[in-house]
Amino acid sequence: MARTPRPLIAGNWKMNGSKADGLALAKGVADGVKQAGWTDREVLICPPATLIMAVAEAVRGSGVLVGGEDCHAKPSGAHTGDVSAEMLRDAGASHVIVGHSERRTDHGETDAMVRAKAEAAWRAGLMPIVCIGETLAEREAGRTLGVLETQLKGSVPAGATAAKLVVAYEPVWAIGTGKTPTTPEVAAAHAHIRKVLGGLVADAPAVRLLYGGSVKGSNAAELLAAGDVDGALVGGASLKAEEFLAIAKAA
Ligand code: 13P
Repeated sequence: MARTPRPLIAGNWKMNGSKADGLALAKGVADGVKQAGWTDREVLICPPATLIMAVAEAVRGSGVLVGGEDCHAKPSGAHTGDVSAEMLRDAGASHVIVGHSERRTDHGETDAMVRAKAEAAWRAGLMPIVCIGETLAEREAGRTLGVLETQLKGSVPAGATAAKLVVAYEPVWAIGTGKTPTTPEVAAAHAHIRKVLGGLVADAPAVRLLYGGSVKGSNAAELLAAGDVDGALVGGASLKAEEFLAIAKAA
């Protein structure tokens, strides 16, 4: 099975951005992507739910993809404050991040909940980006690979294929800290993720594995060159068009 040739560079805006900020940022990214004319990589931005519809409109025709940061597992109903995968799709999204460590921590999301959200994404016709990653304590205890394996087995739904799944490895201790694993550490984690995926997905070599955690323009080339890395999930650096485009360029 050939490895996928098209890296994915995804921006996770998290809980940031007024309508004015978000539209300016989206337009900046769309202009840069249009100008670059890339056909060998995909660029995705995931704004907060309030901005998805306006951002999808703003980037239309540029090739920039739009995603949600989370979704509820159910399509509709009495779930005050939640947003379903169907709603994201209706607003113009093609992707959705599920199981981000901030959701797992802030909202107590378990692997089973993340799996249900990934299934909801499929039901709505969205591509789920399933996030996994160890804490600092888990890494220091030598448990990184075991934690990743448990999270993957619990979070990836049965029936996953490379056409229906993206996995993001985000070490919790590297998120927003300016710290990153070394390139060999990233490669080792990704190799293990791909090995575990081999037991879960028929075409595991083609599943896109993103690295996330303090990716910026200056370290993107090195992190993206690590073995089994097929793109990046970018937080803080995705809030500046120029910085985010520099990461996309490095892919
Ligand atoms: P930072 O790039 O700000 O470290 O965030 C990474 C992240 O959580 C992306 O989902």
